Amino acid sequence: MPCRGPCSLKRIFFYGFSAPVPNQIALLKPAYGAMALHRFASQFCVKSNHARVCLISSSRLSAWAHVELGPPDAILGITEAFKKDTKPEKINLGVGAYRDDSGKPYVLPTVKKAEEKLLSKNLDKEYAPIHGLPEFTGAAAKLAFGEDSDIIKNSLNASAQAISGTGALRIGTAFLKSFFPGSKDVWLPTPSWGNHTPILKHSGLGVQQYKYYDPQTCGFDFKGCMDDISKIPENSVIMLHACAHNPTGVDPKKEEWKELSQLVKDRKLFPYFDMAYQGFASGDTDRDAWALRQFIQDGHQVMVAQSFAKNMGLYGERAGMVSVTCNSKEEAERVLSQIKILIRPMYSNPPVHGARIAGMVLSDPELRPQWEQEVKGMADRIISMRQQLVDNLKKEGSSHNWSHITEQIGMFCFTGLKPDQVERLTKEFSIYLTKDGRISIAGVTSGNVGYLARAMHEVTK
Ligand SMILES: Cc1ncc(COP(=O)(O)O)c(C=O)c1O
Repeated sequence: MPCRGPCSLKRIFFYGFSAPVPNQIALLKPAYGAMALHRFASQFCVKSNHARVCLISSSRLSAWAHVELGPPDAILGITEAFKKDTKPEKINLGVGAYRDDSGKPYVLPTVKKAEEKLLSKNLDKEYAPIHGLPEFTGAAAKLAFGEDSDIIKNSLNASAQAISGTGALRIGTAFLKSFFPGSKDVWLPTPSWGNHTPILKHSGLGVQQYKYYDPQTCGFDFKGCMDDISKIPENSVIMLHACAHNPTGVDPKKEEWKELSQLVKDRKLFPYFDMAYQGFASGDTDRDAWALRQFIQDGHQVMVAQSFAKNMGLYGERAGMVSVTCNSKEEAERVLSQIKILIRPMYSNPPVHGARIAGMVLSDPELRPQWEQEVKGMADRIISMRQQLVDNLKKEGSSHNWSHITEQIGMFCFTGLKPDQVERLTKEFSIYLTKDGRISIAGVTSGNVGYLARAMHEVTK
């Protein structure tokens, strides 16, 4: 904290003697640390009323001198390396955002139309309520639970707009930390989205894992999953990906979901659904919410985090929602009141623009059906790229079984490529992906799928 007072003496006094500042720092730093020196010096400045002492602001005196350089974000690191690559045939399969068939970011036409309509309304920029815009939260809840669900009909959901899916997860975990009466450990599938663990830890919750992905089959380890869940201590929280599991693209089948639901009930576990890809997996928003709705039908109370980043392409607008289902309207009101108390000191209230767009797209009778078609268009392109990748691998002469590529669903595919094969793809072919062999199918186009298949065949020969 540099002295802002009128004093001009560039010396610091300490225990009755003075010395030029740099020497004094050298003497004090090992014994007291930069922070202590700062505190001492700034207090001294105040006490002496700026009469004789001044602390020179210098980088060596920074309060942050002890701060170490953190590791770069794994995905952003890939994008950085991709940008630097000068090969024209380079492909970025690391990024988790949809691209059209020419590899370009895609703004949904319904989103553009909604923006035009909003502009013509000449709306103000006032604060939203702490729990968000009701025209958004109402429509988002219907999308998740279904228009005709008892939850909606009886107002049993405590729903708050959130800063996209990440923010929704974060508020949900804060609520669990404060109010969940059971264990403060949350059980994640192995593997899970890379941000789940930091979100849970940031909320002060413990992280545990249950089996999910089988590297042998590149599919769902149903038996391992059931075995592990049957050992989770009662009254714990279990995190489930509602559809399009990230990073594996592996979802349980309907019959498997039903058995999971029964087991989760028998173990008295609380299901927390992460639904970041509704509509993006199958192309049908109702079908992708099937597991969530099945659990509710089976009598579970649930929590669900929604995101409109992928299914509406609102990545940077940060529109999402967290919902907790309750046993009565009055209970939902109590729960929501506490969620609002958690949100208020975090960011006060959510941004309005993305929520206005999503709310309008979901409720406008002209835009809604068009949006459903656009989501289906994105999902269909991804499904077709999976097929084209497998066809091209066969064409190249690959004798491996690549059926998992078409069996998996959603934006991501766990290819089964080993770290050394991934490294070769990047070094020799300028194809960028995460070390675990995950590729974003959204980055595959009809223009690059042949090159990708050739490269994958080459490194897996
Ligand atoms: C499984 C999962 N949950 C949540 C999110 C949250 O995304 P966002 O905060 O952009 O809505 C993502 C994004 O990639 C995800 O894959």
